Amino acid sequence: MSDRVPAFLEARRSIRAFLGKAVARDDLDAIVEAACIAPAPHHSRPWRFVVVDTDDAKDALATGMGAKWRADLLADGVDTARVDELVAASHRKLDRAPALVVGCLTWDGLDRYPDEPRRRAEWGMALLSLGAAVENLMLAAADRGLASCWVAAPIFCPAEARDALALPRDWLPHALVMVGYPDPAYVGRPRPPVPLDELRRFTT
Ligand SMILES: Cc1cc2nc3c(=O)[nH]c(=O)nc-3n(C[C@H](O)[C@H](O)[C@H](O)COP(=O)(O)O)c2cc1C
Repeated sequence: MSDRVPAFLEARRSIRAFLGKAVARDDLDAIVEAACIAPAPHHSRPWRFVVVDTDDAKDALATGMGAKWRADLLADGVDTARVDELVAASHRKLDRAPALVVGCLTWDGLDRYPDEPRRRAEWGMALLSLGAAVENLMLAAADRGLASCWVAAPIFCPAEARDALALPRDWLPHALVMVGYPDPAYVGRPRPPVPLDELRRFTT
C-alpha cells in the first residue's frame, strides 16, 4: 500500500474469525465512545448503539434476522436446502463473534420535512453519519488489538432486528459490527492497491 496512507488506517482489516475470549465491556464502551464522536448532520447524534454480548441476545438477533432473510431468499426462488445452509451459516457466524455492536438510526435530532425527497435526503445524511461512526468504532477496535467486521444484514431487516432485541420502536438497526480478539489462523484477502487514477479526478 502507498506509504501516504496513515498506518492506523492501514491497520484496520475486516477479520471474520475470533478467539473464544470475551471482550470486556469497558473495551466495548471505549469503541462505542469513539463511534459517538463521528461527524453528524447539524450537530445531531442520530445513532444509537446496542452492544449484544450475551448468548441469548445474539441468538435472538440472529434468529430474527435469519427469519426475514429466509423469507426473502425463498421469495427470490432460491432452493430450500440452499436457503437452510445460508441462514444457518449466518447464524453460526453471529453466534461465534464474542460481541456484536448494532448501530441504529433514529429521527431524534434530525430535521423533519413535509416532502419525501428531503425526508429521504435527511435520512441519507444520518446513514452517512452512521457509516462514519462505524468506521470510528472499527478503527478504535483495531487500536485496542480487537478484530472487527461490518455485517450488512440489519439494513435489510431493521424492524426485525429491532424487535428481536426488544428495542424502542424508533431505534432502527442499520449496521452491525462483530468484535472480538482475532483468531491468528484467519487469513483475509490481500488488500488490493488503490487505482487512484480510476477512482478520483481533478477538475480541469
Ligand atoms: C456497509 C458494509 C457492509 C458489509 N457487509 C459485510 C458482510 O455482510 N459480511 C462480511 O463478511 N463483510 C462485510 N463487509 C466488509 C467488507 O467485505 C470489507 O470491508 C471489504 O471487503 C474490504 O476489506 P477490509 O475491510 O479488510 O479492508 C461490509 C462492509 C461494509 C462497508
